[in-house]
Amino acid sequence: MKKIAVYTSGGDAPGMNACIRAAVRAGHYHNLEVYGIVRGYDGMINGNFIELDNRAVSNIIQKGGTILKSARSEEFRRPEGRRKAFEQIQKFGIDGLVAIGGNGTFTGAELFYNEYQIPCVGAPGTIDNDLYGSDFTIGYDTAVNTCLAAIDKIRDTADAHERVFFIEVMGRDTGYIAVRSAISGGAEMAIIPEFPYDKNVVINRLKHGTSDAKASHIIIVAEGHQEGRASMIARDIKEALPQLDCRVTTLGHVQRGGGPSAADRVLASRLGLAAVEGLLEGKANVMAGIIDHKVVYTPFIDTITKRKPINEDLLSLAEKLNGRKYEV
Ligand code: F6P
Repeated sequence: MKKIAVYTSGGDAPGMNACIRAAVRAGHYHNLEVYGIVRGYDGMINGNFIELDNRAVSNIIQKGGTILKSARSEEFRRPEGRRKAFEQIQKFGIDGLVAIGGNGTFTGAELFYNEYQIPCVGAPGTIDNDLYGSDFTIGYDTAVNTCLAAIDKIRDTADAHERVFFIEVMGRDTGYIAVRSAISGGAEMAIIPEFPYDKNVVINRLKHGTSDAKASHIIIVAEGHQEGRASMIARDIKEALPQLDCRVTTLGHVQRGGGPSAADRVLASRLGLAAVEGLLEGKANVMAGIIDHKVVYTPFIDTITKRKPINEDLLSLAEKLNGRKYEV
């Protein structure tokens, strides 16, 4: 293996730049030529390749977003798109790929490997933490800290005005961001897609809380599959308990931006290195992840088809600190 290319794809996540930097520096450490592909799979199709030396990735470890840009490519979903991408890979003489992204990125990488056998090793870059094969994904810790900063601020207003706040967080169809934000923010409840939403549970909890002289509440709602899920739930609750002063805050894309936390920078650096060294060891069609503090490689197909369960210890911790079951 002489020449590798690194790309970011799907939703950006804080720490992607740290991972690019690590892959580039690891490549040069092992005497490889390293290219960056700009705009993910769209850039691969259009031949948007740039050579990256060590200096090209200076001063980026602390930056959010991705210097290589990102996209969700429609064209790569089609065989003709992947054929064009393969032609560009051949034209640039690329022997191996480092893919940084989430579910969609690895779905594309899996298809591409099965058709063209260009070795590819992934690094999990998504705020959602929803990939099987790594305890944490790059960007998750930073996103949770962003939520936490917002929750702390909203709590001031909730407390001052004795209100109930429904705070909607991202996470696609998982509740990882919601559960960790709820625990660290001391929220009263988290409503997550892993459990069916039952409005009576929320109503009972709020009734019990107010009868306990609890004046304000913070309820974290994972977006799930529905846009505006927190507003929908707040409407339900207001209908049943009109005496409560309810408000909704949707944190949205603020969760994707900002400089990565120390934990994300270290994770990204480890996984960028592991992806390149995996390629050099002959690994392909796998994602590098960290499980129990150790680097492991998991087939792309497992990362996208197997569901990583919400950590039960965290769920039971949250239940116990709320004095009752955390299910909704
Ligand atoms: O996968 C990251 C993520 O931020 C999800 O949490 C969210 O559902 C989705 O991407 C939003 O995507 P977009 O930026 O394309 O609206």
